[in-house]
Amino acid sequence: MNLIQKCSLMLLPLGLAAVGDSLAEGQGASDANPPAATAPARAITKNRVTTSPDDRQREAFEQALRLAYPEKSPKASARRNFELRAAPTKVRQFDNRLVDVWAYNDRVPAAVLRVRLGEEVQVLLRNDLPQSTTVHWHGVRVPNAMDGVPGVTQDPVAPGETFTYRFIPKDAGTFWFHPHHRTAEQVERGLYGVLVVDDAKTLPYSRDEVWVLDDWRLGSDGQIDPRFVTRHDLAHDGRWGRVVTVNGEIRKEMVVRPGARIRLRLANTSNGRVYRPDFSRFKPRVIAVDGMYTARPLDFDGFELAPGNRVDLDIVVAPELAGQTVRIMDRFTRRPFTLATIRIDGEPVHTPQFDPPSNPNVPEYPGAIERGVDVTYVLDARRGGKYGIEWTINGRPWGEHEITEFTAGRWTRLRFQNVSARVHPMHIHGQFFKVIARDGKQADEPYFRDTVLLHQRQTIDVAMVPIDWGKWLMHCHILEHAEAGMMTLIEVGE
Ligand code: C2O
Ligand code: CU
Repeated sequence: MNLIQKCSLMLLPLGLAAVGDSLAEGQGASDANPPAATAPARAITKNRVTTSPDDRQREAFEQALRLAYPEKSPKASARRNFELRAAPTKVRQFDNRLVDVWAYNDRVPAAVLRVRLGEEVQVLLRNDLPQSTTVHWHGVRVPNAMDGVPGVTQDPVAPGETFTYRFIPKDAGTFWFHPHHRTAEQVERGLYGVLVVDDAKTLPYSRDEVWVLDDWRLGSDGQIDPRFVTRHDLAHDGRWGRVVTVNGEIRKEMVVRPGARIRLRLANTSNGRVYRPDFSRFKPRVIAVDGMYTARPLDFDGFELAPGNRVDLDIVVAPELAGQTVRIMDRFTRRPFTLATIRIDGEPVHTPQFDPPSNPNVPEYPGAIERGVDVTYVLDARRGGKYGIEWTINGRPWGEHEITEFTAGRWTRLRFQNVSARVHPMHIHGQFFKVIARDGKQADEPYFRDTVLLHQRQTIDVAMVPIDWGKWLMHCHILEHAEAGMMTLIEVGE
């Protein structure tokens, strides 16, 4: 038996046993019994989350949420037009080697799309790939029809065809975009980019930069290994590559002036890799997570940037650092490595003085931890499916999934219960939520997220007030896990 088989065999039986246990407690979103590994495909069913009416505490939470972010888009002040041509191409990557990729407008990552809050965004997607594709606007609260999910919000865009996305962002912040069709392959081949929505009023940072973190698994020929969604990836935390890049560069170096104050936006576009960046002497402050401002500036120490996550940092380059080179390390794995370096050089600049941006209206939900769980999602794996391993939510892979119906505007407590031995960054489209507990213990996260990382066998409770209507995907952002079933739908409506 090879190592891979061993791993998956170790993983599966444990996970399967645990699914039965957790559902037997009766907290599941599903009222059905978990399917046996051999159960035939089931029809998609709907399941409604009911919360008791007339509940003062919940109403207070809902009131608080209404202050935290807008329900409606601002009126469009102008329109910004972009074109994204998705096509195979070659880029100079990794010390100037030519690499075959699939890219938006011939760049990996795509050039940053920048708009201002209040502007309408119109993006013409031109598909010159050998496969169908779509664009999903990760974290952006778009009208449901613009969400880019084939079979749910639109038809896949066939080779040679175009599709126009149009929306007015409701929130300023750091977002990103990627295909949502054969996502594990298309993202790994190079289709991703960042969308920055600037505040209506410009903040006086010395610089505003984007760092896209990605990893690449290359074959011995130096090209992207074309074996996607392998059994190995599925039995582990997805596809991890050994080559890590920042904005497509290995050993990225950023040169900054002493005294500069920088807004640095990190986005993790990797298929599976998690980062825990260590900025050592810079002591950055977190001002936004997943695009949304935090209630106050926070420590960055130990922050885990899972696939899908973004974090915005406020970094003041102390004048004493002049002449130094600081290594930014990744410490998520047992073997720390250098993500990038920052060299402090040049004429000192005057440090702009202003309060970091924040959202003091991020609700606290006092006492939320004592409330009951409204809906539970058990995360696990089973044997079967076209890859030999299926990743499931409440015992069901995509295609047999349930649609959970949520009432718009209603405060709801969701539980993610990871009974497997792998990690899962769970992402909900079109909504933001707040972590309220980890393994039953109150969590102090004064910010919203659209993606939360569950460690092995961890349970995380989040509070969500769904606002944006429609059918939205909820899935693991380890793209291989999602491809092998770990996706479901929520429906927000009346
Ligand atoms: Cu980056 Cu379905 O999402
Ligand atoms: Cu997963």
